[in-house]
Amino acid sequence: MAVTDVAGATEAERMIVRRPPFSFTQESAVFWNAKRPEFSQIVNAASLAMPYLEPYLIKTMREARPLISDPKLVRDLDLYCAQESSHYRQHRRFNDALKAELPEAVTASEEILAADYEWLGKNRSLRFNLAYAEGFESMALAIGHMLIRDRVYLFGGSNSEVASLILWHFAEEIEHKAVTYDVFAHVSGSVFWRLVGLFYATGHIFWRTRAGYQRLLKAEGLWRNWRSRLALGRVLIRVLSILAARFVLILVPGYHPNKIADPAWMTKWVALHQADDKATARLDTNRLHEADPVPLSA
Ligand SMILES: [Fe+2]
Ligand SMILES: [Fe+2]
Repeated sequence: MAVTDVAGATEAERMIVRRPPFSFTQESAVFWNAKRPEFSQIVNAASLAMPYLEPYLIKTMREARPLISDPKLVRDLDLYCAQESSHYRQHRRFNDALKAELPEAVTASEEILAADYEWLGKNRSLRFNLAYAEGFESMALAIGHMLIRDRVYLFGGSNSEVASLILWHFAEEIEHKAVTYDVFAHVSGSVFWRLVGLFYATGHIFWRTRAGYQRLLKAEGLWRNWRSRLALGRVLIRVLSILAARFVLILVPGYHPNKIADPAWMTKWVALHQADDKATARLDTNRLHEADPVPLSA
């Protein structure tokens, strides 16, 4: 049975499908954060996975759908698939802008990611793929908390469209935090396989993202630049140390995503979108230190 959220809401009450009107330009795609070019490439490399990873998650969840007897969980699953579908479509548009600038580096990553997820979908069991999906979602929840907590350092002063894309994506990752957990628990429930999925998905995504940002930094001539390498090391230590602390929470016996309270900023982000459904697509990245997300003035 699903655990009710700490705020008392069920998933279906929390989740809505949003389509913020992002428009990415080639100029904004590669170095969208001029202050943190290395972090730009980490995010860009992760973005390249989305049009392959998220359709694989959707396919896996749809395969599990006929096995679910709880109508509320079926509704959650459908909303989850609709949110993920919106995510990868927006990322594909962003990735196309990236590809126009760095075609070889982007194509090399895309070919590897396409092959990986095709292989997993064809050759691994539904239980394994559901465990991968839940492993990815646990990590996405941890990343969402990290990005929001460290939003000033990571996104301050950066391109509004791209920062808004990433923060929209991870606000919704937090919003649908429990769906794959509950589907996996309903269909399999094996703690062993859940942990296999967590470590496999984490290792796989981190490995592919590392190779991806390495290609992008090489293409931009920064990989052999020692200042850039030091900046990369600094940002990696910063984000990985926050993530490691959150990763431990996933390993605690009795873990359920709904036991992890949503960040206050995310709740205010949801309220901003309710008040103005275009505002979350153009956040003012110079005002991320404020308690409420603020859109750019028109
Ligand atoms: Fe997503
Ligand atoms: Fe997700």
